[in-house]
Amino acid sequence: TYVVTENCIQCKFTDCVDVCPVDCFVEGPNFLAINPDECIDCTLCVAECPAEAIFAEDDVPADQQEYIALNARFAQVWPVITARKEALPDAEAMNGVPGKRNLLVE
Ligand code: SF4
Ligand code: F3S
Repeated sequence: TYVVTENCIQCKFTDCVDVCPVDCFVEGPNFLAINPDECIDCTLCVAECPAEAIFAEDDVPADQQEYIALNARFAQVWPVITARKEALPDAEAMNGVPGKRNLLVE
């Protein structure tokens, strides 16, 4: 499966959603997650993300490992998102800002 990691937080560009052939993204207030039971490892979303927030599970950086479980958990509770929408207002400013984990709204 593929995993959305920290740099999506407070950006939520949603470009990833448009290319996913199986609609496995779910949407929270300021973060998207991938349903690990639905993702078919097509890799298409990786290049679409302006925040470079999506990794193959095996390539998730050491300091982002908790996002593997977070994606799985959010996939059970957040609604599916199937179409791209406006990024969050401060998306550009927040892209690449370190330490966004505490901003994640569940
Ligand atoms: Fe969807 Fe493919 Fe990305 Fe998995 S790797 S979330 S199937 S676009
Ligand atoms: Fe997040 Fe990147 Fe998608 S910022 S919403 S994973 S395009």
